[in-house]
Amino acid sequence: MKPSNLPTSALTPNGLSNDPSAPMLSLDDVHTYIGQFHILQGISMQVRRGAATVLLGRNGAGKTTTLKTIMGLIPPRNGAIAFNGAKLDGEITYKLARRGIGYVPEDRGIFRDMTVEENLKLAARSVSSGEYRQRLDFCTELFPDMQRFMRQKAGTLSGGQQQMVAMSRGLMVDNKLLLIDEPSKGLAPIVVQAVIEALVKLKSHITILLVEQNFTMASIVGDYFYLIDDGHNVANGTMEELINDKELTRKYLGVGGV
Ligand SMILES: Nc1ncnc2c1ncn2[C@@H]1O[C@H](COP(=O)(O)OP(=O)(O)O)[C@@H](O)[C@H]1O
Ligand SMILES: [Mg+2]
Repeated sequence: MKPSNLPTSALTPNGLSNDPSAPMLSLDDVHTYIGQFHILQGISMQVRRGAATVLLGRNGAGKTTTLKTIMGLIPPRNGAIAFNGAKLDGEITYKLARRGIGYVPEDRGIFRDMTVEENLKLAARSVSSGEYRQRLDFCTELFPDMQRFMRQKAGTLSGGQQQMVAMSRGLMVDNKLLLIDEPSKGLAPIVVQAVIEALVKLKSHITILLVEQNFTMASIVGDYFYLIDDGHNVANGTMEELINDKELTRKYLGVGGV
């Protein structure tokens, strides 16, 4: 049989998709419970490869729960999640997926008693020292300020500086997808601007799923959006479509006054 006659499969031997047009991540009718509470009530979404998708919704809509569900921190009770074509189910596949997905949680997830450098080295513990240097150079190019506070304890940094360290941690290994939960939260506008600029640069290197309530950041960084409310999908489309939908942005995002 000639190679062209072999049965075609979208999956490589390790179960990962090699179809560049397939979504990097997909959620299909995902239901997640926290204790007895049915928080995600059938969330579906697709995160396109090489683009930034923004997940939007009011406080308590279920955005953080969606990211935690993707990471397997709160596994879904029903529905399917696939990363690079491989279905996530059970602890082992979540562990495998975590190798390719970086997660920057809302509380930033850095070690406050360690220096910035130690935080980054710890995140890079599985890579060679040569690769660590390359990744560090990439991050200091992205966040030039970080060079100044490399030897400072992370707990002494400002919110914006901590956010830079948190995002850099996600870039210390070869992640294909970065999940970032409300990076603008509690930051001064000038710092938000710096984070926006970094994310715009980052977009050409890694696929991003960004949870963000700051509409300026969402609209500049995002290519696609999903809007959720009360654990349900409300709308999705291109960021341009959202920007032009005054009713949606006013109702769910508080843009343009009441
Ligand atoms: N540990 C928890 N126990 C009970 N309810 C929770 C817990 N964490 C989140 N929730 C509830 O789940 C819903 C979604 O929360 P979350 O995903 O954090 O929303 P968002 O990130 O969109 O603000 C909210 O109603 C919240 O009160
Ligand atoms: Mg949240």
